[in-house]
Amino acid sequence: MPAPRTAPRTVLLTGAAGGLGTLMRGLLPAYGYELRLLDMRPIEGEPDAITADLGDKKALREAVRGVDAVIHLAGISLESTFEKILKANIEGTYNLYEAAREEGVGRVVFASSNHAVGFTPRPEGDAPHEPGALIPIDTPRRPDTFYGLSKSFGEDLAQFYWDKHGLETVSVRIGSCFLEPTTVRMLSVWMSPGDGARLFHAALTAEHVGHSVVYGSSANTRLWWDLSTARALGYEPQDDSEQYAAKLIAEQGELDPENPDHACLGGAFVTNPPVWPY
Ligand SMILES: NC(=O)c1ccc[n+]([C@@H]2O[C@H](COP(=O)([O-])OP(=O)(O)OC[C@H]3O[C@@H](n4cnc5c(N)ncnc54)[C@H](O)[C@@H]3O)[C@@H](O)[C@H]2O)c1
Repeated sequence: MPAPRTAPRTVLLTGAAGGLGTLMRGLLPAYGYELRLLDMRPIEGEPDAITADLGDKKALREAVRGVDAVIHLAGISLESTFEKILKANIEGTYNLYEAAREEGVGRVVFASSNHAVGFTPRPEGDAPHEPGALIPIDTPRRPDTFYGLSKSFGEDLAQFYWDKHGLETVSVRIGSCFLEPTTVRMLSVWMSPGDGARLFHAALTAEHVGHSVVYGSSANTRLWWDLSTARALGYEPQDDSEQYAAKLIAEQGELDPENPDHACLGGAFVTNPPVWPY
């Protein structure tokens, strides 16, 4: 396990008004971080937050100036038109990386997604799965949406900025980070908010990450993917979705191998993805 480097103190949190951003605003200060917040939407109760779009290069440059690291959550988090995804997630992430490079920021934690590999068939059979049956981190990318495609791009962009400019990134293929899992599929990919904060902290403090790609979830009994690259950062998940399993399965039934919504890692994103409302 890599030795933890000195924890970066000041961290820019983009997408700070969103669901995950709100959870992390609550949890990360306990690890000693001073958070600088950015979102295109104002954040209630946070008068110092930067209200800026990822298209505003000048604002991004000022936002990253002097921070030790960036947690990049901002962007369209569901399916949308290619044009909107291109602007927010592809050009926006490029703008963020350019600003970080220009200001000498050493590390980004990038919110990638399971939807970068969403068409990957989920492990068959009963959980818990043998380690060999888990989806490896180097499984070929199989985006399930334009949204997933933009996360694939973000991972490649991160690799490029490491190889070309020495800017480190941990790309976290987040499963579902909510207070509780709400579907039977989520039992396999759920990341508790507490484990999310543990994983982001590990991604900010591990030594020599280069560009590392990790799956982001708790240590779920029904896990579908291999957490070893996340654990190699020093991440030790504390939670397991199994406490919610009986109730969710009673309400929704077990996953059905004949149902296309249940066949792949990306769930319903492969068939009928939820659409970004704006
Ligand atoms: N929550 C999850 O379980 C989950 C799972 C996989 C990946 N992710 C990724 O993590 C990140 C956060 O997810 P979330 O659930 O909090 O999403 P969210 O939609 O709640 O939050 C995204 C935030 O980004 C902001 N934003 C969107 N476009 C922007 C732009 N052009 N400029 C500035 N801000 C912009 C929005 O205003 C919003 O506050 C996203 O990148 C998402 O794709 C989240």
